[in-house]
Parts: sequence; structure tokens; C-alpha cells
Amino acid sequence: TPRIFSGIQPSGGLTLGNYLGALKRFAALQGQGAETIYCLVDLHAITVWQDPETLRRNIREGAAAFMASGVDPAQSILFNQSQVSAHAEMAWLFNTVARVGWMYRMTQFKDKAGKNSENSSLGLLAYPALMAADILTYQATAVPVGEDQKQHLELTRDIAAKFNHDYQTEHFPLTEPLIEGVATRVMSLRDGSKKMSKSDPSDASRINLTDDADTIAQKIRKARTDAEPLPGSIEGLKDRPEARNLVNIHAALSDETPDQVLARFEGQGFGAFKPALADVAVAALEPISRRMGEYMADPAEIDRILGQGAVRADEVATPILESTKEIMGLLRSR
Ligand code: TYM
Repeated sequence: TPRIFSGIQPSGGLTLGNYLGALKRFAALQGQGAETIYCLVDLHAITVWQDPETLRRNIREGAAAFMASGVDPAQSILFNQSQVSAHAEMAWLFNTVARVGWMYRMTQFKDKAGKNSENSSLGLLAYPALMAADILTYQATAVPVGEDQKQHLELTRDIAAKFNHDYQTEHFPLTEPLIEGVATRVMSLRDGSKKMSKSDPSDASRINLTDDADTIAQKIRKARTDAEPLPGSIEGLKDRPEARNLVNIHAALSDETPDQVLARFEGQGFGAFKPALADVAVAALEPISRRMGEYMADPAEIDRILGQGAVRADEVATPILESTKEIMGLLRSR
């Protein structure tokens, strides 16, 4: 059976981008005939320093966000990465397969490391090898992500292909990225050329999963737009990135195509569109933040679910890790 794997960093403050580009799709992929494995990648989070108590809370809050978005731990394996040691071990094996030059080419590394890249953690550079390990330790066949992870998934395929070539095997699948739908790149509410991101200094640029109804409505009201009326189809928004973004967000939230949304607003301005968008956003997000709060009220239950998920993940991962070591000639005698 096909196996789907994906992960989210528990580095605090999930956004509407994470929800539409990832969480909502993770939930929709359940019960569709594939095994679904979802992970809070805490080992990735610590590639930049995290306050320990805050990190632990963010891992639990991330788990709450998965479940509040519809990921069901009975249908999917839900766990945090550091509880399954195969990830870190496989990452080391891949550190010997991947090339240093591949890592320096990653745009996420360049963005996160900034000017002083010599002073970034070695883990930040090796980050994509750990990501490949996440995926390939399960021999996952497909990975749902937003557009910004495309380069990392190409590198995952490069690592799989080089391993298969170097060891003359077909051990690892060439994993397919699943970058589908109208919300694979949700843009900032303040600047249609920038991705919506938890690291943007302006809180008005994003909708957080924990924002209340008033905050959501206010951020949408203040979102940057233009003065033109809306066209009847998305084609007409080619050169209007802010307008296109809002229409795409609406379509993703209401499970319509952008053209279906525009059919209702053709000829109207944002004075009519924004309140309607605020309504669908609040209707979709308010239950999620409420359910997150309910899960967070019982952290012991979250820990139990993540622990159980880790045991199940381990059962899938360990045999694949062991066969990988075997292929590489590492001696096992116990
Ligand atoms: P992360 O934690 O930055 O983001 C989690 C998921 O949310 C998507 N996303 C977006 N989608 C649409 N619009 C946006 N503005 C937006 N912002 C974020 C991301 O594309 C991602 O799907 N390296 C990964 C985590 C990771 C992973 C993995 C993913 C580690 N191992 C294995 C898949 C498989 C990351 O930093 O995602």
C-alpha cells in the first residue's frame, strides 16, 4: 500500500499557511487507501536554539493542532521525531551519502543562515539529510507539503537515487511530492510577493491558528489589496498577487475553485469580498482553535497519544533502518 509521510516543525505559532498547505490536506488524505504517518519534527526545530520549556509546549501544541485539524491518531500514526531514534540514525547514514555542495544550495539554509552562515549550527546545514531520513526510514511513497518544501523533496530523491546507485539496490523509493490545490503557497497579508510565515516580524502579515474571531476579521479587513473590482475568473488576477492570494485562501477554506468563488463577486470590490472571506475564515478556524484549547487542557493525554504513535512508528522504521545498515556493510551480531 502507498505510504504517506509528512512533518511540521514545532517551533511555535502555526499559521493559516501551515493549515491550508499542510494540516488540512493531511486530514483529507486519511482513509483514502494510503497509510498516513505524521510527525512533529522536534529534531529539526533545534537546528536553531529553542528554549527547552517552550519547545516542549510547542510540541504538545503542534500535536493539538494536528488533531484539531482532523488528524485522527486512530487512523494515522502521529508522533514526535525525537522519540523514534531511527530518524537520527538514518540521518547519519545519509550524511555519508549526501554531498556538502547539495546542502549549501538549499534556499531554506541560505535564508535561515543569513549572512553569517559559518556560524549557523552544523545541524541547520545537514537539515535536509534528516528530512530525507524522516521520509525514507518509512520508505514513504508520497509527501504532502507546501511549495516551499519542493527543493528539499528533490534532494530527498537525489539521496535515494545516489544510495540506490552507490549500493546497487532498489532499497529506497523515489518519493513523490504532493503539492496540490490552490493553497500550496499562502502569501503574506501585507505583501503578495512574500510567503505567509511565522517568522515575519509583522503579526498582521499572517493569521495564526490561535487568533480569535475579532483578530482574524481585523487582519483580513486590513489586508493589502488594490482598488480594482474582482474579475469573473482567476485568470484576471495574474498581475494582482494580493487579490489572487485572498481569493485562493477563500477557495481553499470553502472547498471551492477560485472561479466558483469569483462567480459570486464578479464586478464587486473588496468592501464586499473581505467580510465574506472573514466569515469563512472564522467559521473554519474558530472550531480548530477551540479544539486546540481543549486538547491543551490535558497535556498528559497528548503525551500518551504521542508515545503510542512513537511505538507504532518505531515498528515500521526499525526494520528499514536495519536493512539499510545491512546493505551498507555495517556488522550486526546481536
Ligand atoms: P514547516 O514546519 O516550515 O511547515 C510545515 C508545512 O506547512 C507548509 N507551509 C505552507 N504551505 C502553504 N503556504 C504557506 N505560507 C506555508 N508555510 C508553511 C510547509 O510547506 C510544510 O508542508 N522541513 C519541513 C518539515 C519537515 C518535513 C519532513 C516535511 C521535516 N521533515 C518530512 C515533510 C516530510 C518544514 O520546515 O516545514
